[in-house]
Amino acid sequence: MWNCRVYRNKSGGSDLAGCTVKNPHFNASQSIAVVHNGIIENYMKLKTKLVARGYQFLSDTDTEVVAHLLDYCYKKTNGDLIDTITKVMHRVEGSYALGIIFAEHPDKVYALRKDSPLIVGRSKDGNLIASDVPAVLKYTRNVYYIENEEIACLSKDAIEFFNSDGEAIKKEARTIEWDTGAAEKGGYEHFMLKEMYEQPKTVRDTLTPRIREDQIVIEELGMKEEEIRSINRIHIVACGSAYHTGVTAKYIFEGLARIPVEVDLASEFRYRNPILNKGDLVVIISQSGETADSLAALREAKAQGITTLGIVNVVGSSIAREADRVMYTWAGPEIAVATTKAYTAQLIAHYLLAIRFAQVRGMITEEEVAEMLTDLKAIPAQIEMLLANKQNIQKIATRYGGAKDVFFMGRGIDYAIGLEGSLKLKEISYVHSEAYAAGELKHGTISLIEEGTLVAAIVTQKNLYKKTMSNIVEVRSRGAVVLAITNEDNTEIEKNADFVIYLPQTNKYFTNSLAIIPLQLFAYYVSVGKGCDVDKPRNLAKSVTVE
Ligand code: G6P
Repeated sequence: MWNCRVYRNKSGGSDLAGCTVKNPHFNASQSIAVVHNGIIENYMKLKTKLVARGYQFLSDTDTEVVAHLLDYCYKKTNGDLIDTITKVMHRVEGSYALGIIFAEHPDKVYALRKDSPLIVGRSKDGNLIASDVPAVLKYTRNVYYIENEEIACLSKDAIEFFNSDGEAIKKEARTIEWDTGAAEKGGYEHFMLKEMYEQPKTVRDTLTPRIREDQIVIEELGMKEEEIRSINRIHIVACGSAYHTGVTAKYIFEGLARIPVEVDLASEFRYRNPILNKGDLVVIISQSGETADSLAALREAKAQGITTLGIVNVVGSSIAREADRVMYTWAGPEIAVATTKAYTAQLIAHYLLAIRFAQVRGMITEEEVAEMLTDLKAIPAQIEMLLANKQNIQKIATRYGGAKDVFFMGRGIDYAIGLEGSLKLKEISYVHSEAYAAGELKHGTISLIEEGTLVAAIVTQKNLYKKTMSNIVEVRSRGAVVLAITNEDNTEIEKNADFVIYLPQTNKYFTNSLAIIPLQLFAYYVSVGKGCDVDKPRNLAKSVTVE
């Protein structure tokens, strides 16, 4: 079985829809079949050589090159399978996880990888390959993580491993502790809805093991107080929603711990020749731990000798294995492409880190720590309350589901949550939406506001109430319909908003954990209302393991 949920061929040529191999690439005689996740960078060069040797291609995909190259090497080695595969491995450049079947050995599946994730699952009913753990959870909890340039040979009852020289190697299986039920819908209509409802538990699971006797203890971090005190600058690097966690975290680390923070999209960071100095800490945030750009950013930081910290959800994933330090977000397997509970867990992990760093650096008092911990512990119940209010959001979503554009605005942390709310909406409902720092409106976006345009205004930062309110008045006077998300004490806003969702009282740094709930629900109900495929939105993948 191949986990096709995370598979995307750059050229879109290989359609591996479903979870079984439906459409592999073959050599001419159809005696070798290949499935591939990744990109073969030198495929044109290889193709030219193979064409010169008489090979005919049926597609323009990079994957087909592998099938013909296997055929060529198979003949060269007189059918020595491991020799064939290592020869192919040494010729192919790029990132790949490959699954291969030879017709002459129908009881075996060969698999190998470089820079694209690959795991092998061992079960008494047969063995499996997949690109990540959730895909095999239904069948087994015993998995082997295949490292770069390793080869696995699976038959029904045995698994063998080889290195890139074709020598047999031993590998230890890891037991996955995740609840298998987590990979099933459990009565919910969609995984996304189920995962939204799991958020209170996710918060508890991420929080509880790290609070002991009213102190934050992040044991696995392994950072001595001296090391925490000597951090000069934090670079947070991530993609998608994880990047939005980073944007929020910047405000919190800077506000609480007074450590300067830079936040980068991983795809930018890796190519911008970042200036990293001794004493810097590079934090890579990733649900899957396999995002190609984030992994490359991690390696870039490590190559420069900078300490790296992975905030990762998937245990044993590449980022978790390669980062100097790891802090897990205990969200469990997330199946819906649009992240909800993993994002929520990432926020919690950053609150804990920021409070701990601030405490060690003497920036906050013990009383402040105690108050914050009390507020953190209240978050799960507060999320439950907001989820219980879903009908209100559903009504608004039904009314504005047909919107052409939706804008999100806020200042500071509220801007960060707007980014995530906007991404959720466009990801799963295909409604165009953008998030703006409210102060930027008049530098462009305001010209897009028309009669009836929906603007979601997030207003949770007391010191910025007035400022954002004046932006609300501006958009409303141009015809916008305003959905405000604000604290329960800000009833004043009713004068200027068409709809108001109130959030329960929490620390000003934690409001995103609450404000995201109505925004997730809004995106969800717009998507459902439009009949979209909520869990598998078009053109998107759960883990983007190619650049
Ligand atoms: C994809 C997913 C997003 C996710 C992003 C980063 O685009 O669809 O939901 O935020 O990748 O993924 P990561 O696994 O690194 O958090």
